[in-house]
Amino acid sequence: MEYILSILLGSLALILYHVWNKMRRGHNWPPGPPTVPFLGNVNVDLSDRLKEFRKLRKLYGDVFSLVLGTQTVIVVNGLANLKEFLIKNGDKTSIRPNTTGFKDIAKGKDFQLLRSVNDLFAAGTDTTVNSLSWFTLVLLYKPEIQQRMRKEIEEVVGDSRLPSLADREKLPYCDAVIHETLRFGNIAPFALPHGLTEDMQFNGYFIPKDAVIIPNLDSVLMDPDLFKDPFEFNPLRFLTDDGCLVGTENVQTFGIGRRICLGEALARMELFLFATSLIQRFELVRSDGHKLPELTESKLGTTRSPLPFMVKAVERL
Ligand code: HEM
Repeated sequence: MEYILSILLGSLALILYHVWNKMRRGHNWPPGPPTVPFLGNVNVDLSDRLKEFRKLRKLYGDVFSLVLGTQTVIVVNGLANLKEFLIKNGDKTSIRPNTTGFKDIAKGKDFQLLRSVNDLFAAGTDTTVNSLSWFTLVLLYKPEIQQRMRKEIEEVVGDSRLPSLADREKLPYCDAVIHETLRFGNIAPFALPHGLTEDMQFNGYFIPKDAVIIPNLDSVLMDPDLFKDPFEFNPLRFLTDDGCLVGTENVQTFGIGRRICLGEALARMELFLFATSLIQRFELVRSDGHKLPELTESKLGTTRSPLPFMVKAVERL
């Protein structure tokens, strides 16, 4: 009896040690907030991840770690770090971790195809709708931007046909507004989680293979060194005095490296055609009696969207 009891106690101690070990920061891991024994980082406010991650970056630097349950999460911040992590180390950092459900269990080709179509559809609708919602909300706050877009469209395209992709080059102001919408809307601030194929060293830290990596795109899109007054919506930041488009390469809304958004080209086309056609055909105005949400407010689910609002689209043509 005593023998069985000691085996049970021994096993329990081993399990407890294993759990305890899993829920603390290992040696030379990227720094982060102190972990609570057996609970990990319950002291982190994940209900407002944007604010919390900005705060944690200030406190712990560009690469910080969190222990959430038994999962280690590494957040990588800043354009240079993200390029180094996702491009230079792309062979190790470009898989999807198990937790996202991205890793397909081989279940036959048809299933895989169906699943891919489903993934593409899901990724494609929410994101485009969100970007257009930000576009609309911003224009309700800034009618002068809407007017300037419409003037450019009238001069280049006229009224008799809808804008086409061939017009894009001749509509730099409209293009700048769309880039600024992609930056300011910040609709996928944490991209999608990445996984590692093996343990790795990064910026002098050890990162274990089973960590989930969050590429913090918010840290790029809202970086004051890349974009002056980043919390201001200002399409002119992308235009030179003679109207040429510049500086758009830092708008990394679609991610960086091998797992960059598969729908980027499609999304850019859709946004251009929807946005310019909308402005050509309609005047977007505030709906009487309805208050607009603040531009700084947002709802963060899989993507980041503005809070619900009403808009009146007055037909022009
Ligand atoms: C404004 C619109 C969009 C934005 C901002 C956006 C952004 C992103 C981001 C940040 C990622 C993750 C990149 C990474 O993990 O490093 C991603 C992945 C992906 N996006 Fe998009 N996306 C948009 C529209 C679309 C559209 C229209 C489609 C499809 C028609 C699409 C399909 C995908 C797919 C399939 C992936 C996963 C790629 C992979 O795992 O290799 N996205 N997107």
